[in-house]
Amino acid sequence: MPDLFSKFDPLIETREQLLSTGVTDPFNLVMEEVVSPTVAICNGKKTILLGTYNYMGMTFDPEVIEAGKEALEKFGSGTTGSRVLNGTYVGHKAVEQALKDFYAMDHAMVFSTGYQANLGIISTIAGKDDYIILDIDSHASIYDGCALGNANIVPFRHNDVEALEKRLKRLPEGAGCLVVLEGVYSMLGDLAPLKEMVAISKAHGAMVLVDEAHSMGFIGENGRGVAEAQGVIDDVDFIIGTFSKSVGTVGGFCVSNHPKFEILRLVCRPYVFTASLPPSVVATAATSIRKLMHGKAKRDHLWENSQKLHAGLKALGFTLGTEEPQSAIIAVIMPDLEKGAAMWEALLHEGLYVNLARPPATPANMTLLRCSLCAEHSSQQVDEILGMFAAAGRKTGVIG
Ligand SMILES: Cc1ncc(COP(=O)(O)O)c(C=O)c1O
Repeated sequence: MPDLFSKFDPLIETREQLLSTGVTDPFNLVMEEVVSPTVAICNGKKTILLGTYNYMGMTFDPEVIEAGKEALEKFGSGTTGSRVLNGTYVGHKAVEQALKDFYAMDHAMVFSTGYQANLGIISTIAGKDDYIILDIDSHASIYDGCALGNANIVPFRHNDVEALEKRLKRLPEGAGCLVVLEGVYSMLGDLAPLKEMVAISKAHGAMVLVDEAHSMGFIGENGRGVAEAQGVIDDVDFIIGTFSKSVGTVGGFCVSNHPKFEILRLVCRPYVFTASLPPSVVATAATSIRKLMHGKAKRDHLWENSQKLHAGLKALGFTLGTEEPQSAIIAVIMPDLEKGAAMWEALLHEGLYVNLARPPATPANMTLLRCSLCAEHSSQQVDEILGMFAAAGRKTGVIG
């Protein structure tokens, strides 16, 4: 019989080859101490964090921490049960109410992670014989949700409105269809043309789900995401989000105005057959979400940071994922994995942590250094970051 692990041999070889160059393992970094949303101690060294999804810097907010502590003491460390049995506490109801208020929507359902939110909602509403049309660069949790539900999957070229329309036109008569889009695509930090895509999808009678994982809290007048910023939030059937980015903890959710939405609590397997979030987590999430409703000053500062970093990196001669900054993610395109890993390590030596991203997570086989900014980065930190990129870029030969 074959060794079931033999399919991993090519990856094992790539990894061994990379590590044999003497480079530090970029996928095994330990945060020894986390000082603030923007600074940690790694390898004993003070390191600026530019590769977290802590966009709004909520992880050390004193009110958020206090809410978590209180719930931990009052309700204990975990629920030890499913939401549909013993795992719904007042805190789960309170965070769902906070989401309904945040999005001004009728229904909110909280999952244990954003991954499970996509897995659960997509697989439950689009099953065998239904069609899912999705952007080819969709997140793994979206693809896994499609696979779990066993729907017919029809991908289209990234952000291509005409390609989406073509696929909608080709649907068999009477078929059910869910169009799945993201607000911000997390690899390159680019936005979806939701205005056009949502309009076309609705015109063909499809339902629309938008994953706003990387835009919640930051993009849109009230931080509701790209659908809000582009004026189509009322036409979107389902918004998926996560607590692991701007909200600053862990968990996932779906909000919707669909009148039959609540039935999903009984039929959605990744909601039913898993334990609910600990009381401390839902308490921190609810407090954070309510504070994000008043986050305009932070949103403005985050935009300033994003613009400054993008312009600075461009001026240094780096190749970036977008012409203009579109979100809090700025992707620096590396010539190959070896150079990318060398640059990642050189930045770490300078005192900067960024994400190294490689295929299959990245589009078009790219190796990326993904920088994600935080509203708590000071303008001076952005200057320091640019200085570190200049030094590491010259040392590794990525820039001249
Ligand atoms: C677009 C998108 N959707 C969903 C998720 C999953 O979120 P979570 O970390 O809560 O599982 C991610 C996480 O990176 C994401 O980027």
